[in-house]
Amino acid sequence: MQYHLAPLFCRPWTLNGITPRLIESHYEGNYGSALRRLNAITEELDALDPATTSAAVVNRLKRDEAAMLNSTLLHELYFASLGGDGRAVPETMAAALARDFGSTDRWRQQFIALAEALAGGSGWVLLTYVPRDGRLINQSGADHGQNIAGGIPILALDMYEHAYHIDFGANASAYVAAFMRNIDWTAVQGRYEDATRVAPPRPLEQKQFAGVPAMTVEQVRALLDSGERVQIIDARPRHYTTRAQDIMEGAVWRDPERLDEWIGELSKTDPVVTYCVYGFHVGCETAIALRKAGFDARYMAGGHYAWKAIGGKVRLFE
Ligand SMILES: [Fe+2]
Repeated sequence: MQYHLAPLFCRPWTLNGITPRLIESHYEGNYGSALRRLNAITEELDALDPATTSAAVVNRLKRDEAAMLNSTLLHELYFASLGGDGRAVPETMAAALARDFGSTDRWRQQFIALAEALAGGSGWVLLTYVPRDGRLINQSGADHGQNIAGGIPILALDMYEHAYHIDFGANASAYVAAFMRNIDWTAVQGRYEDATRVAPPRPLEQKQFAGVPAMTVEQVRALLDSGERVQIIDARPRHYTTRAQDIMEGAVWRDPERLDEWIGELSKTDPVVTYCVYGFHVGCETAIALRKAGFDARYMAGGHYAWKAIGGKVRLFE
């Protein structure tokens, strides 16, 4: 495929302290060259015979393609970040910055610190929305390729020297200040609103256990920390426990195949939490059986390994 050039988004003559000459050189020379290289690499890849081309050649081209594609996308975002007065942060955007950074000022201080840390080097500073967590994060990348997977950048500051030397020489701080004075917050907010409509990654869905109450490992830990009474049953299958070395602290192991033998030990007044190895099946089935018998039982999602993954305490399993 061929990538198409995007017209310059900001109006260079309206910028405050950044000259049209700088933007023109940047747009034509750097953005344009990234796009042209991207198209050349794509053409080369399309023309290759995968049967006879060495893996090393394909690998190099794919790496260059990723860098040039990212450079293209980030330059388009950079030019689309400029053209405002930098000060008037619209309501939705101000609320989002306050939610995720404490305040617009705190966001600004962190963003500028990341930019100034790149002075004399090169890279990007991005304000990025992460659909997984529904939040904004600042990030800096020392080349075109270091971006948060799944994140959607909504504001970009180019810290390559080509982005400022014509106007600012080596004075990167003055360039950063000028960039901040030209942020188009209305455009940033529009992109933020678009980004928030992207669905987070699909969670694990277990249709057959949809009606069974579950607890996250964090909730179980909080429950244990609170000191409230709870009965935790490790229901890992017997064949599995022969190679298990540890067990969640506060849990007792009970063979899920022999529920009838141990169900009588449980208190009906205290809640029960069951779990298995990964939380897929046995822990859920055990919780269902206990609920049928009238217990307030739920299963711990993610099982034994999720508990260990959050650093939950374990003891030796004998
Ligand atoms: Fe650039």
